[in-house]
Amino acid sequence: MSQILLVNPYNKKPLQVTVDGLLDADKNRFPLKNGAYKIVNDNNYTDNFGYQWNLFAGTQIDKSTDIQLSYKRFFAQTGWDKEDLSGKNVLEVGSGAGRFTQIVLDHTKANLYSVDYSNAVEANFKNNGPHERLQLYQASVYELPFAPAQFDKVFCFGVLQHTPDVEKTVLSLVEMLKPGGELVVDFYPISGWWTKLHAKYILRPFTKKMDNATLYQKIDKHADGLIKAYRFFSKIGIGKFTNRFLPICDIDGTLPANLSKEKLREMVVLDTFDMFSPQYDQPQKIKTVVNWFKKYGMAGVWGGYIYEGKFKAAVVKGKKPM
Ligand SMILES: C[S@@+](CC[C@H](N)C(=O)[O-])C[C@H]1O[C@@H](n2cnc3c(N)ncnc32)[C@H](O)[C@@H]1O
Repeated sequence: MSQILLVNPYNKKPLQVTVDGLLDADKNRFPLKNGAYKIVNDNNYTDNFGYQWNLFAGTQIDKSTDIQLSYKRFFAQTGWDKEDLSGKNVLEVGSGAGRFTQIVLDHTKANLYSVDYSNAVEANFKNNGPHERLQLYQASVYELPFAPAQFDKVFCFGVLQHTPDVEKTVLSLVEMLKPGGELVVDFYPISGWWTKLHAKYILRPFTKKMDNATLYQKIDKHADGLIKAYRFFSKIGIGKFTNRFLPICDIDGTLPANLSKEKLREMVVLDTFDMFSPQYDQPQKIKTVVNWFKKYGMAGVWGGYIYEGKFKAAVVKGKKPM
């Protein structure tokens, strides 16, 4: 795997790879644990994601379902050419259980450096590792263990809204790109004041403080009743107005059709936990993210919606000038 210069994000000194971790000249050591280099420990604002992705490690992975959703989304959103990615250094930030990690590894010949702040990296390793073109790091986007300006491509899907300082997140991603490199992000969009008139934003002040197991058990216990209520309101034609007030994910708007009853339930519980547990949920206007890309020197910036089946993603992409 082609070498990216690794640095200790706290003192900027180069890191050497040893058999059991990374080491700098001051003898600071970051261990290799369960397939990932641990730059941070698990105790941070993303522990809900670590819990979620280890519990639902296979739920959204294309190869463990019959659905090609991640594959279609990845290439539709990035517009990247599979052949062109051969031998390129790609950075994925906020990889979760690795649904897109799998797509890059199985459908391209790129070298992938995949990062998540939570111990979801362990779920990613179970799904995708070990692999000669994959390196996994548990690290924050704000303190990445890479020297700047080394990556040909950077992608960051479903993460921006879950970070405390979204503009700084964009800047941190831009800094990782080589001249000529490309960045693609997708995120929760905000359309207007009504975006937040939703059970998610009404209940989150309470649910995000709950411990992960308690929240999960509550969602699991009520899932069947909530799915029935959602279906009932949709059937009688009022779902468009009422379902946003049900404490359940948007089944019709986001989940694939024709799932088995069991698979649907599993995806609903995962997505509902994902709605209620994050510490940060800051949807953004596409225009705002486009402006940050431009502010940080990106060229050819494009922002808009990309549809894949029923899934609608707010995407912004651009290129760092040569
Ligand atoms: C909703 S998940 C998205 C996972 C995956 N990209 C996907 O689309 O399925 C958001 C992920 O971002 C990660 N994350 C949040 N803040 C982060 C940060 N500061 N640095 C790196 N990852 C972060 C979380 O741990 C979580 O796994």
